[in-house]
Amino acid sequence: MKKGLFITFEGGDGSGKSTQIRLLKQNLEKTDREVLLTREPGGTEISEKIREIILDRNNTEMDNMTEALLYAAARAQLVSQVIRPALEAGKIVICDRFVDSSIAYQSYGRNLGDSISIINSFAVGDCMPDITILLKLSPEEANRRISGREQDRIELASDDFHHKVYEGYLELERKYPNRIVGIEATGTIESIAENIMGRVKELLGTVE
Ligand SMILES: Nc1ncnc2c1ncn2[C@@H]1O[C@H](COP(=O)(O)OP(=O)(O)OP(=O)(O)O)[C@@H](O)[C@H]1O
Ligand SMILES: [Mg+2]
Repeated sequence: MKKGLFITFEGGDGSGKSTQIRLLKQNLEKTDREVLLTREPGGTEISEKIREIILDRNNTEMDNMTEALLYAAARAQLVSQVIRPALEAGKIVICDRFVDSSIAYQSYGRNLGDSISIINSFAVGDCMPDITILLKLSPEEANRRISGREQDRIELASDDFHHKVYEGYLELERKYPNRIVGIEATGTIESIAENIMGRVKELLGTVE
């Protein structure tokens, strides 16, 4: 039976996930809980190999369903090899992106509909997050933040695609209000971190 706490971070490219995950880990470690950090796609040797295929800018011919299945395959390996054992051992697991990314990017961004939820229910089973922090930042603002760095195949997709992804996330927030906590990502790094820690503490109070 699951004893730990499973936290995922979601939001478009450049919305501040990595920044906030680093701070949340630091804040949680002050409470003496063991925290395991992982990322998607990746987090295991097999999943990192799959990540390279997905993000390779030369793979321009990749079919949308191939992409969706590769994400789910990488996720299945991560869940069985890393996330589930850590939760069973009572750890707090923080994952940079999870199933909601597939729904936002593939169902909404690539118009693949309900097939994505079905594929992912096979990939993760009942291993769903206890809380999902959704960092909400318009694609334009996010683009300004990351314009200086080299972009991968997904980041290079059209503005229209990134808008559909953003709308997808907002739809998911409406659909799963008990799990997904939407946070405006336009605030300062410190104020957002405080907000997130407050939400997570509430949850730790209820599960411990
Ligand atoms: N609240 C904030 N205000 C202003 N800039 C921010 C804020 N949070 C993060 N940034 C900056 O925005 C950039 C993107 O942040 P970060 O890498 O954390 O985003 P990300 O969501 O992890 O992106 P990706 O999806 O590409 O991994 C970084 O340069 C970071 O320093
Ligand atoms: Mg990041």
